[in-house]
Amino acid sequence: MIDPKLEKYAEEHSSKESDLLYRLNRETHLKMIHPRMLSGAMQGKLLEMLSCMIQAKNILEIGTYTGYSAICLAKGLPADGVLHTIEMNPELESIAKKYFAEAEIEHQVNYHLGNALEIIPQINEAFDLVFLDADKENYLNYYHLIFDKIRPGGYILADNVFWSGKVLTTPDPHDKEALGIIEFNEYIQQDDRVENVILPLRDGLSLIRKK
Ligand SMILES: C[S@@+](CC[C@H](N)C(=O)[O-])C[C@H]1O[C@@H](n2cnc3c(N)ncnc32)[C@H](O)[C@@H]1O
Repeated sequence: MIDPKLEKYAEEHSSKESDLLYRLNRETHLKMIHPRMLSGAMQGKLLEMLSCMIQAKNILEIGTYTGYSAICLAKGLPADGVLHTIEMNPELESIAKKYFAEAEIEHQVNYHLGNALEIIPQINEAFDLVFLDADKENYLNYYHLIFDKIRPGGYILADNVFWSGKVLTTPDPHDKEALGIIEFNEYIQQDDRVENVILPLRDGLSLIRKK
């Protein structure tokens, strides 16, 4: 969507990915089937900075994958801060936990293995920041489940809100992910309990603030 040359320029003139994140990125590309799901250097740095700016003490991530975004988000946490992260694929736990240990954040990460739709109602916490990055057809369900757990003035970041440009099309009625994202974006914009801005970074990142 952005001129690829400008995108490259932005990457080259942004802080470099740390060695640890570079290795996690590389291992994910070597071993995983869908490595593009990982946030990557630009979005990872943005997540880290937003987490720092918000001064989040309690973060929830929905969709851990190999742990890249979790490590970025956790960098903004104070020493007594906690990141809850939920992942349903048991095959990803060992790689994520290996890098959490290396990043020395394992004592701050509460890893939940299972379906986020079932796990979220069991977490009785107030969150400063929620990163929504799991199955797209359930974005609105996640939004409803997390809303009362976010403190007033807290934030939600929702990834992939462009869904590769499919938001501009009339999707196939069987394309639950595209329909889920379109429904989510429309709902958020009309929900007067929040304000939001969609950042045109990568596949679209919606920054939502609870009033
Ligand atoms: C896009 S990836 C997450 C990428 C990660 N946040 C990052 O930026 O590095 C989405 C992840 O959500 C997980 N997922 C999908 N549906 C889920 C559900 N219902 N409950 C928990 N995890 C789910 C998938 O297994 C996948 O690992």
